[in-house]
Amino acid sequence: MLNALRPKVVAILNNNIEVYLRLQQICDLLQESIPYYDWVGFYFKNGNKAELKLGPYAGAPTDHTIIPFGKGICGQVALSNENFIVPDVKAQDNYIACSIHVKAEIVVPLFLNGENVGQIDIDSNTPDPFTQEDEEFLEFVNKGIAKIL
Ligand code: SME
Repeated sequence: MLNALRPKVVAILNNNIEVYLRLQQICDLLQESIPYYDWVGFYFKNGNKAELKLGPYAGAPTDHTIIPFGKGICGQVALSNENFIVPDVKAQDNYIACSIHVKAEIVVPLFLNGENVGQIDIDSNTPDPFTQEDEEFLEFVNKGIAKIL
């Protein structure tokens, strides 16, 4: 299912429209196509501050539009440069809840010229849904985005 979406992601990335609109379309595509992707969004480093700023997203609005580095799953990935799969958000101490319905989360960093400049963040209302397949798919998405930034 995820691999079938790759050509659609590439088609969006190749559209000659504003980058933020392409990122919005990718959020919408993933959230609508993958049943366990309930919230899909991008966070990017906020200028030269040690914090993340919310970019395009699909799903319920979140209060967490700014996340300091180190805080929550997203803030930890900003520092670790590693993918972070959370099978059960209740088992995490350093977690920022956006919705009571969320059971699991995956965050994959986005690298531009080797620098961690942001990330894609997926929340799921399904317990423990994420696998290596999701990691590989989201790395593919982020690599494609890096080429248009
Ligand atoms: N849960 C995230 C915060 C962002 S929301 O999921 C949209 C975290 O712990 O960093």
